[in-house]
Amino acid sequence: MSVQYREVPKIYRMWVDGGHADSSSGETFDTINPYTGKAWASAPLANERDVDLAVSAARRALDGPWGSLSPSARGALLRKLADSIAEHAEELARIETMDNGKVIRETLAQMNSLAATYHYFAGAADKIEGSTHQPPGTNFFVYTRREPIGVVAAILPWNSPLYLLASKLAPALAAGCTFVAKPAEQTPISTLLFAELVHKAGFPAGVFNVVTGAGETGAALARHPGVAKITFTGSTATGTAVMKSAADHIADVTLELGGKSPNIVFEDADIAAAVNGVMAGIFAATGQTCIAGSRLLVQRSVKDRVVSLLRDRVASIKLGDPLEMATEVGPIAFGQQLDKVMSYIDLGLQEGAQLLCGGNRPSSVDLKDGFFVEPTILDGVNNQMRVAREEIFGPVLSVITFDTEQEAVEIANDTSYGLAAGIWTKDVQRAHRVAHQVSAGSVWVNTYRVLSYNVPYGGFKSSGIGRENGMEGLSAYLQTKAVWLELTGQTRDPFKLG
Ligand code: NAI
Ligand code: MG
Repeated sequence: MSVQYREVPKIYRMWVDGGHADSSSGETFDTINPYTGKAWASAPLANERDVDLAVSAARRALDGPWGSLSPSARGALLRKLADSIAEHAEELARIETMDNGKVIRETLAQMNSLAATYHYFAGAADKIEGSTHQPPGTNFFVYTRREPIGVVAAILPWNSPLYLLASKLAPALAAGCTFVAKPAEQTPISTLLFAELVHKAGFPAGVFNVVTGAGETGAALARHPGVAKITFTGSTATGTAVMKSAADHIADVTLELGGKSPNIVFEDADIAAAVNGVMAGIFAATGQTCIAGSRLLVQRSVKDRVVSLLRDRVASIKLGDPLEMATEVGPIAFGQQLDKVMSYIDLGLQEGAQLLCGGNRPSSVDLKDGFFVEPTILDGVNNQMRVAREEIFGPVLSVITFDTEQEAVEIANDTSYGLAAGIWTKDVQRAHRVAHQVSAGSVWVNTYRVLSYNVPYGGFKSSGIGRENGMEGLSAYLQTKAVWLELTGQTRDPFKLG
């Protein structure tokens, strides 16, 4: 696969009300390719007025052509979109890789799974059902309707732009909502191209809008009174700000936030499989995933073996051009994030951790322009150190040793986060016992970092509120209305409830 790296940034435009749009101020911002370190594209910087235009367009579509479509017609459009994503998978994957440096083998796999996500929710569109109820007394007939919640605003991060958008947009459209997306300022381009696919699939104008910009654009969207639901993926700090804005106008929120997930290796585990799972947990996607297994909790009796196998495998990781299929680990997505990762490595060493491998920027010539950092293992970490408590969001593994199962559970749960956990053991009783005790929204036993559009996903504690994917993910975009019918024609005491 070969791609031309552009010298002049290509100009992309927003997508609002069924057409391209510039920002009303005319301002734009560049997006940097983290492998070359150069700007390769630009997008408009949307302000409050642009956000208002997008929300208004979404409202008109909801009150107009989209709101009057049948559920099966919505499903049919989602199916067309799914097919179009499959056709354009390679192009979309390449764009994402150029924007955030994620290796093409992963972005390609993600694009292929996107189509399945849209197909799944397409099938759900005409299976949204209410219920009937028998209140006390016989003179009422009561039924419920599940109606779309309204205009949805999605504020998205840079690590998996279209993949994370899919678990929000596909159920929202199936539910009958309309949508305004604000991709991250580091990675806006794939969402802008995707909007054209939505349009070509035949969705009415205003159903899906994209505004581009940074935190201020996201904040304008979160506080817009026309937004009924905000769905956010990103840092816990920004999620807190978004939830405060939502409180000001009583908007619903789904928050997918950070993590400091434990990967727990017991002495009775298949050690080779565990080592592979630990690798997948922290070095895949250059560690820039919310579900990163950033704390390795390993039982003392197998610790040396696990760590030495890990070090051998890490030594052969292939860093390189993320557009090459053979590359295993690409660059960090942007310069500031690289600085953050490097400063955490320094901090860990100051706190008393030992560097087992990595810790530096790689020196080879072909990596010199990119935001690379070596896959890094910090040994001798204890759970009170900041490198064990704070989300680093990079390829940095903290190794913590434990003696007993109870201690492993205590360390696993001694964190403000609760997104995911891995358990490695051949003992089936222990597997379930520990899975039930760990406070996390996803627990993997003898595997790590597997997700699916039909399995509920979300965080405990500071890792979030609400669930995405599966039928629970669809419910997030519906609100229930109860309709009461009086059956006898009699009047009732007007001064008494019920
Ligand atoms: P962020 O949470 O600040 O950004 C995510 C999105 O929120 C972006 O679209 C951004 O423009 C928007 N945003 C920023 N400030 C906002 C505000 N006040 N109101 C509304 N929207 C706002 O994350 P950032 O700064 O890119 O990364 C910082 C750290 O966050 C990372 O180092 C990592 O630890 C964590 N993070 C976690 C992610 C996850 O998947 N859980 C994804 C990205 C970052
Ligand atoms: Mg930020």
